[in-house]
Amino acid sequence: PRSIWLSRHGESEFNVLGKLGGDANLSPRGMAYAEALPGLVKGSVGNKDITLWTSTMKRTIQTVKHLNYPKKQWKALDELDAGVCDGLTYEEIEKKYPEDFRARDDDKYNYRYQAGESYRDVVIRLEPIIMEMERGSDIMVVTHQAILRCIYAYFMNVPQDQSPWMEIPLHTVIKLTPRAYGTQEERFKANI
Ligand code: F6P
Repeated sequence: PRSIWLSRHGESEFNVLGKLGGDANLSPRGMAYAEALPGLVKGSVGNKDITLWTSTMKRTIQTVKHLNYPKKQWKALDELDAGVCDGLTYEEIEKKYPEDFRARDDDKYNYRYQAGESYRDVVIRLEPIIMEMERGSDIMVVTHQAILRCIYAYFMNVPQDQSPWMEIPLHTVIKLTPRAYGTQEERFKANI
């Protein structure tokens, strides 16, 4: 059966600083993950003809640098747009926009950042991507935390309103294989 490999980008300079969004480069640890990735997926990909999808952001493109498969960039895989909060830390958001901070915690799935997006918006913009993933070829998707939560919830049959709270760790490849009785999951964690 065909499989889907999912990974967040390697740690970025913004991840290190606790800042949301942006278009930062990978940190040294993130670059080490990019270097480890071919070895991490080698056993499970074997000689399959996979296609590699990333967002249009530097951190995902840098993460797949050492992988030699056909590559495609999708704007629809860019991280959830935090609007006026882009580039801030959670602490800064709590100080500057206390009501927004609380509203998001109360209803994280529906909360839409001012001039940005909600998880519900992301699920809608991912529809064509998920349709393409359903067509059945082997695909590796290297994208962002919020995006992966929605994709993972779809394939694992988790209600979408629970996706904003799901744990998608850095430096880990999640391999999903849809089967008749449900989706089989394997995780490969890099020691970085
Ligand atoms: O902190 C990394 C990050 O991918 C941010 O760019 C993004 O805004 C955030 O995680 C999404 O997580 P949450 O929806 O839990 O804030």
